[in-house]
Amino acid sequence: MKWRTPIFALAAAALSLASDTGVQEPSLREAARNSGMLIGAAARSAQLSEPAYASTLAREFNMVEPEDALKWEIVHPEPQRFDFSQSDQIVDFATRHGMKIRGHTLVWHRQNPKWLTEGKFTSTELADILEKHIKAVVGHYRGRVFAWDVVNEAFDELHPGELRSTLWRDQPGIGPSPGAATEALPVSGRPYEYRPYQYIERCFRWAHEADPQALLFYNEAEAETVNPKSDAIYAMVRDFRQRGVPIDGIGFQMHIANLHADIVSIDTNIARFAALGVQVHITEMDVALPVDSNGNASPEDLQLQASLYREITRTCLSHPGCTAIQTWGFTDKYSWIGSHSKHTQGAALLFDRSYHAKPAY
Ligand code: G3I
Repeated sequence: MKWRTPIFALAAAALSLASDTGVQEPSLREAARNSGMLIGAAARSAQLSEPAYASTLAREFNMVEPEDALKWEIVHPEPQRFDFSQSDQIVDFATRHGMKIRGHTLVWHRQNPKWLTEGKFTSTELADILEKHIKAVVGHYRGRVFAWDVVNEAFDELHPGELRSTLWRDQPGIGPSPGAATEALPVSGRPYEYRPYQYIERCFRWAHEADPQALLFYNEAEAETVNPKSDAIYAMVRDFRQRGVPIDGIGFQMHIANLHADIVSIDTNIARFAALGVQVHITEMDVALPVDSNGNASPEDLQLQASLYREITRTCLSHPGCTAIQTWGFTDKYSWIGSHSKHTQGAALLFDRSYHAKPAY
């Protein structure tokens, strides 16, 4: 079992050192230094040239993940062309500042280029494209990206427990083919019960071939608590572990819009996945608050938000298998929440738009 620094004690002591700007000593990454804990943030390459953005990111976090730069539409804009310019900027920044790099994401149903989604490929062609994509991207960062979200959000929102209909899921030969009840198990050759998540398994195997040292994660939204979606993912991960499919971790996104999140259920859920022998990463945490027309949240809500960040962090720290906490961005100046909900919700992160630490910090 890992020994962990009591970061809350350190953080509490540090409050008295808070300066006018709200910046505190020790920083989050210093507080986490001896704990074996990773504290990360999603980042945008375009913002790295902004001094306050870059200095806050480097000072506070020991892990970084490109928010969009590794998604297909950016990294693989044409069939025969990869563009690593945005992701390389983030990876270089992380390397200069001694930060671990998480990769996000190799397979998702969103942010795919038109050449792919409208390409009318056969299943054989599509499998080939997917394998080459995974191996090219993972191969480019072999030895540098320590953990990948191999597949993101494959399970359905409307029909919990079922796989979402996507390009990959629906293609015979990659996803399930109607009527095919059994298939030869690739490793032993034994027939095995038909598994609808066959395409996910193939992606993990391809990623593992491209970088056997990288940790491979399945990442999901709204699977933080014990619910039908997390039940289905649990069954898949257990099956993968039993059959030696190379999966190392589960990412719980933790986009919270309900200030009364069920912490007990989150705790139980983390425990059951950790018991399978996989690591748990909290990968995309933010806590959206109601905001006024100026984008400001009430002081009461900021305190409730702080409680939630505290409770989730405590819960993660209490499980040795929960090894990373990452927020989806770090400043309210650049957050998908503010940009997607016409500013009735926002203020979701640890730093405000002027990079001042909020109560949640
Ligand atoms: O690439 C274009 C750029 O050319 C154009 O100038 C710009 C103008 O707005 O838009 C750019 O595309 C944006 C893209 O991010 C890249 O920055 C899209 O408009 C924007 O919709 C897109 O949003 C991202 C969203 O995923 C897409 O679904 C968010 O930044 C990103 O935070 C969000 O992240 C997801 C995770 O990957 C998975 N989990 C949920 C999470 C939040 O939705």
